[in-house]
Amino acid sequence: MNNNGNTNAGMGLHSNSQGFDKAFLEQLQDVYDAETQLLTALPKMQQAASSQKLKQIFQQHLQVTERQRQRLEQVFQAIGQPAEAKTCPAMRGLIKEAEEIMQKQGQDPEVLDAALIGAAQKVEHYEIATYGTLRTWAQVLGHQQAITALEATLEEEKQADQLLTSAAEHNINQRAAES
Ligand SMILES: [Fe+2]
Repeated sequence: MNNNGNTNAGMGLHSNSQGFDKAFLEQLQDVYDAETQLLTALPKMQQAASSQKLKQIFQQHLQVTERQRQRLEQVFQAIGQPAEAKTCPAMRGLIKEAEEIMQKQGQDPEVLDAALIGAAQKVEHYEIATYGTLRTWAQVLGHQQAITALEATLEEEKQADQLLTSAAEHNINQRAAES
């Protein structure tokens, strides 16, 4: 009776862990696509930005994003799966919002910068949520290498968010000084 119970519990855990492995893989494929989409959006945002500080942030984050994409390939490898992308509709929507901001004609450059910062922070917050989830799942599943890699990216996204916050403050201060 006891043995039976234990066996069943064991089987339950096993099938749950398989479901989690699949969910983990799907989230990885989603964020792999999200980072790829961002690689094409960031240069456009860099070009549209007026302030040198903001241009520099976008330029730096482009390099960081390239590294993060490679880091995801290492995670796929660590769990023995091919690096495949699955369309991330959320990132598509976030980038569409950024494009709408850039397409508006005759904008005050400081207002445009503020709107670009806002769009970029939405992207960062989305990525922070995704990498936070992936990191936790990697811990639950015991994917040691993945934990380290996902943690590193999570920290980089948080840093990017903070840089954007300081750029927003700088932008507003500049505007106040000019008026
Ligand atoms: Fe990223």
